[in-house]
Amino acid sequence: MRIKATRESIQLASSIIRKGGLVAFPTETVYGLGADALNPRAAAKIFEVKRRPTFDPLIVHIAEIEWLEKITRNIDKRVFKLIEKFWPGPLTLVLFKSPIVPDIVTAGLDTVAIRMPSHPAALELIKLSQTPIAAPSANLFGHLSPTTAEHVEKQLGEKTDLILDAGKCPVGVESTVLSLVGEKPVLLRHGGLPLEEIEKVIGKVARKSKRKKIQSPGQLARHYSPKTPLKIIKSSDQIPHNENIGILLFQKPAVKINAQAVEILSENGDLREAAANLFSALYRLDESGVKIIYAEPVPEFGLGQAIMDRLRRASRTR
Ligand code: TXA
Ligand code: MG
Repeated sequence: MRIKATRESIQLASSIIRKGGLVAFPTETVYGLGADALNPRAAAKIFEVKRRPTFDPLIVHIAEIEWLEKITRNIDKRVFKLIEKFWPGPLTLVLFKSPIVPDIVTAGLDTVAIRMPSHPAALELIKLSQTPIAAPSANLFGHLSPTTAEHVEKQLGEKTDLILDAGKCPVGVESTVLSLVGEKPVLLRHGGLPLEEIEKVIGKVARKSKRKKIQSPGQLARHYSPKTPLKIIKSSDQIPHNENIGILLFQKPAVKINAQAVEILSENGDLREAAANLFSALYRLDESGVKIIYAEPVPEFGLGQAIMDRLRRASRTR
């Protein structure tokens, strides 16, 4: 349902966010598809609805500066200089994340992208929700970012619980994404805030290296892969009987499994729950000290495609 953004409709939208639902909302850059950033199952819905074949890390939107320190770690002077000048506004900062940010939001990265949008409807929605909102642009995978609520309705119509309509987005291109996790600031995406403006405040900014493709999200480089070798099996009866192994199961097994570490992504075989649990399950298996991880495949539709994409990449690491 698409409704005009008013105090009442934003109130309704915030209750949907608090209950784990999805709300498309206006920002000054483009419309975002938002969910509670601290609720992994809600965040999983975003990937499902966007039909992303991989898990790309999401931007976490805040309305109050207190959240910056709850969500990130090791912030330095550069961060404060930039946010003083450009927040709220179209600047996204990539910083080290704190443990409260679920892995599905950051695609298993140790960093999180964060911004404070300047659109009054976005700020109001985030404040009333009393939680940060994770949101990518509200388009289907491979489509252009939406700058009107009609664009969103055409692409995601029935799949969101609510679309807040505030007309055209004033900036119309996505935010500028800047990484501040290294010594040198690195521009990851050109966007609504010109690079020169940023350089006036913190000096020279490096461009994302084309050769090394570093930090380019959605691409192999920095995405989480377990250190332990991972093998995808055909079905659960192929699991070898051996103590020193870890097993990643899609759902509750019919027979008892003997292994050092077993992780079940979703007892009832729910892909959304499985996606929400994937990265943390892999972390735990990695830390359990097993020599090899056997992973049961998940059905390859909906979020299952993204899960299998991650498992295949993990199985290729060595
Ligand atoms: O203007 C915007 O940024 C809009 C509005 C809704 O805020 N959002 C947006 O989100 O464009 P999305 O998901 O379409 O693009 C987010 C970008 C992607 O390039 C993503 O890979 C990158 O930010 N990103 C997110 N988290 C990251 C991280 N931890 N490290 C590096 N890049 C990250
Ligand atoms: Mg996008």
